[in-house]
Amino acid sequence: MKVTVVGAGAVGATCADNIARSAVCHELVLLDIKEGLAEGKAQDMMQTAALLGFDTRITGSTNDYSMTAGSDVVVITSGIPRKPGMTREELIGTNAGIVKSVCENLLKHSPDAIVIVISNPMDTMTYLALQSTGLPKHRIIGMGGTLDSSRFKYQLSLRLGCSPADLNAVVIGGHGDTTMIPLIRFSTWNSIPVTSFLNAEQQQQIVADTMVGGATLTKLIGTSAWYAPGAAGAALVASILRDEHKLFTCCVSLEGEYGEQDICLGVPVTIGRQGWERILPMDLNEEEKVLFAKSAEAVRSMNDVLKTL
Ligand code: 2OP
Repeated sequence: MKVTVVGAGAVGATCADNIARSAVCHELVLLDIKEGLAEGKAQDMMQTAALLGFDTRITGSTNDYSMTAGSDVVVITSGIPRKPGMTREELIGTNAGIVKSVCENLLKHSPDAIVIVISNPMDTMTYLALQSTGLPKHRIIGMGGTLDSSRFKYQLSLRLGCSPADLNAVVIGGHGDTTMIPLIRFSTWNSIPVTSFLNAEQQQQIVADTMVGGATLTKLIGTSAWYAPGAAGAALVASILRDEHKLFTCCVSLEGEYGEQDICLGVPVTIGRQGWERILPMDLNEEEKVLFAKSAEAVRSMNDVLKTL
């Protein structure tokens, strides 16, 4: 199995590091446009192989896509990250061109690859990848909801004083500070509804903190986060390569599901060797349906910006 991660910045390198540690592929290529960056980080990671005991061979490349040939999965992290005070949506002008050309270059050498999109604004970049490549919809997966759901579990675990791993919680909708929808009503602590332990005010606070999870870190660190985004990308890669059929919230093309079409948005899907396999329906109440429709409207207007670039 072979994986390529494009972008050797913090998110791409962390994603590659997690993929190597999980030993899901034999070959891993890290690619970046900055001379020497991917080669250097790849060597640094390879120098942990003896310590960590993994057998994945990681190589770096400065923009030589021929090295990525025959990849089973490609992960796109390219583009600029947001700075404190910026929204993910403000990155569209720069990142759209980058993501489009990265997709073209990747698919020239790996026509059968499954594509995971991490670049922001993630919902629109996933839509762009789908439109510009013309690939079957199941092969284009946006990572956002996987990350946001993990952040949601973290926030819940803080308030409940429990292990994040014991929680079931999903964030659907867009991957934006105002477009994501943490579904607290469906969240459970090993099958016990979390709403049994939290009053309305606590629930609202957890939802609010989850929604600004990325922005809070950007403010603290000075740039966009990388540990959780990288780990989320790697978890999807593992589920594909091991054909795990695990359930994640991912940004995928909707054709009537959840009442939307001609859009890529976060919904629960299973992930396996063919990419995303099926969309799981949820019995949303009226309020949640309205939130989902509003999220779609906001993402759709961002997608419309693509036509003006
Ligand atoms: C985040 O939320 C990078 O969009 C990513 O941290």
